[in-house]
Amino acid sequence: MLEKLDQIEKQALTALEALEDEESLLQWRAEYLGKKSVVMDAFNVMRELSKEERPLVGKRANQVRHALESALEERRAQAKQTALAQALETEQIDVTLPGRPQLVGRLHPVTQTMRRIYEIFGQMGFQVYRSREVETDDYNFTYLNMPAHHPARDMWDTFYTDHEDVVLRTHTSPGQVHAMREYCPEPIRVILPGMCFRYEQVTARSEMQFTQVEGLAVGKDISFGDLKGTLSDFARRLFKSDVGIRFRASHFPFTEPSAEMDMECFICSGEGCPVCKHTGWLEILGSGVVHPNVLRYGGYDPAEFTGFAFGLGPERITMLLYQIGDIRNFWRNDLRFLEQF
Ligand code: PHE
Repeated sequence: MLEKLDQIEKQALTALEALEDEESLLQWRAEYLGKKSVVMDAFNVMRELSKEERPLVGKRANQVRHALESALEERRAQAKQTALAQALETEQIDVTLPGRPQLVGRLHPVTQTMRRIYEIFGQMGFQVYRSREVETDDYNFTYLNMPAHHPARDMWDTFYTDHEDVVLRTHTSPGQVHAMREYCPEPIRVILPGMCFRYEQVTARSEMQFTQVEGLAVGKDISFGDLKGTLSDFARRLFKSDVGIRFRASHFPFTEPSAEMDMECFICSGEGCPVCKHTGWLEILGSGVVHPNVLRYGGYDPAEFTGFAFGLGPERITMLLYQIGDIRNFWRNDLRFLEQF
């Protein structure tokens, strides 16, 4: 038996020298170290040996087993080294090839403007309130003081759906009533950003899809003065501290009184030019004191509560900030435009 083990050890080690790849190494292992191998069999036949022989054979078998195992490990490491050396020899890396550029994404210019708007109103204590883009006729019109068939609805003509009374919202104002119904009777200070849709002719100045940021403050003793102060401060923070602004009387069914805020034209500084249609002013938002009927629909008692609301267009503001001449660029998805911001 001892001789047999010596012989097997030699044979195995010789055979191992010629092997390189993992598969043949595994085969070798099965043959010389597997359950049916001579080495392993030595342990089985020990029972039949004499008392004197038994420890000798056991010790030798263990020695051989360990010798083969470590030879295998060594061979594996060698094979790896050889493969690496070979790869280094044959596979060349051409360091002069141009690299693959990392494409860096960025925020849409309107998203950037919206975030700036959130920041400014956030500093004034307004929270962002998310409201749905698909609305019922009641929220888009009725609760905003525009009963069915009222001609005021024409100003906000919308896209209708197959569902009776379900429309795409034409402004963010329906969110006012959602916020009121959620918070009543607490005071409110929220802004409501989001996408709006209008059934309209698409031109350089107006799209049928655009974003708005609505603002709403409800509480006791809120006046038109609060509205003016808040919005003037907003314009100064967004544009520059000495920007010229003016409030112009206007009409919205859901505010009374109503006003539009204009900003001094950034191109001609108020002198008059084609962009401002020679008026020196550019309209940036609609606003007003919340109409008592809207407060009532929201659950508030207009004898006790007042509020102001406004709605501004981030696309328009972005156009002013970057002097963009055509509103259709925003949703055209043209990288040549988008990559400039
Ligand atoms: N919802 C109005 C619009 O889309 C803007 C507005 C909002 C006016 C809030 C007054 C108060 O034109």
